[in-house]
Amino acid sequence: MKDKLALHGGTPVKTTDFGKGCRYDEAEMAEIRDTFDHGSLIYWGGYKIGQFCETVKKAFGVKYCAGGSSGSAALHAAVGAGFIEPGYEVITSPITDIGSLIGILYQNLIPVFADVDPHTYNITAESIAKVITERTRAIIVVHLAGNPCDMDPIVDLAKKHDLLLIEDCAQAYGALYKGRLVGTMGDIGAFSLNESKHLSAGDGGFIVTGDQELYGRCHNYMDKYYDRLGRGDRLEHLAPNYRASELQYAVAKAQFGKLDDLLAKRRRIAALLSEGLQGISDIALPEVIDGCESSWWFYMFRLTPGVFEGDGKGFAEALRAEGIPAMAGYIPRPIYLEKLFVNKSFFPGNIWPAEVISGKTYNYHAGLCPVAEEVLNSAIRMPVSEFFTENDAADMVAAVKKVAAGLRK
Ligand SMILES: Cc1ncc(COP(=O)(O)O)c(C=O)c1O
Repeated sequence: MKDKLALHGGTPVKTTDFGKGCRYDEAEMAEIRDTFDHGSLIYWGGYKIGQFCETVKKAFGVKYCAGGSSGSAALHAAVGAGFIEPGYEVITSPITDIGSLIGILYQNLIPVFADVDPHTYNITAESIAKVITERTRAIIVVHLAGNPCDMDPIVDLAKKHDLLLIEDCAQAYGALYKGRLVGTMGDIGAFSLNESKHLSAGDGGFIVTGDQELYGRCHNYMDKYYDRLGRGDRLEHLAPNYRASELQYAVAKAQFGKLDDLLAKRRRIAALLSEGLQGISDIALPEVIDGCESSWWFYMFRLTPGVFEGDGKGFAEALRAEGIPAMAGYIPRPIYLEKLFVNKSFFPGNIWPAEVISGKTYNYHAGLCPVAEEVLNSAIRMPVSEFFTENDAADMVAAVKKVAAGLRK
């Protein structure tokens, strides 16, 4: 007999609180105190931000790191560093945060969307190749939820077409692609330090690169294009002020020290979910490419459409009633179906300089990336946290099984 769903008045699966904790402790306080003792909160001179960048460089085995105020800022700087003429195209994923797009749009470039793989939810060399034109100048891959994109063929494709390759690693700290850290395979890797991410400074974001020229440009793009590194002239180009305070990077430095531990804990929770959820019919689990390791920012699986009452929304609601904080989809719709894309209202008056300069017309509409649309319509997202316990994972599994049985038509 089916267990009565909590949604229908049955007893919820989750009877204990999820594991919780405070991500900040004495380690962050010590770095903050040290920053105050140093006597300056601006990043020039690079005391704390410099220490943070040294830590990142060592951990990632990269030559250069530059820090700024957000992941969006880091991505904007990375796009700016490409020195791409206005009106040219940048390919990216339709399943991402607007932060991946802000830099493209502000640099007067045209976002072009490649469709995603239905199992990893990431764009692929194949889907990117389909939308490359003679106007393409860059690719921004997004390692969604910490799951590495299939980078070898993407790197080859970028090389073949001479495209700047940026990795959006906002959700993917410590994710491994065949033994290599994400962020180190493209020309530039960009990370976010916002409060929701694996590591938090409240807000912040940084880039890593092995290319000295790109590093210098990213550095300048995050600081009004002042040439703080003494590499060229003052104010050669236009750039925003994306500086962060030393206090943010004091916190970030302490947070970085916790990365290995929290990754191991998140991977354990995700492994328990994957083990427990395997084999439920009409539920497709997220796939990680062989030889790769996700950093599990969240855990998202897919339902076969039409099989469960209420589809994704109904399933997520039923899970929440069981005490599991699940959501339908990740973002509500592919980013290109948001108003600013559909109406091309990026700027007041709906004047889009990039399109005018390109001499072409670009339209964003339903059906552009059918797989991305299907993924978001059929996905259920559950949180993963380093504070969750094995018991929490077991309850999540039990709740999914119960809801799947209870809502199956
Ligand atoms: C994939 C992705 N890219 C970029 C960003 C932007 O980061 P931030 O909020 O630090 O600007 C985010 C943040 O949610 C993200 O998830």
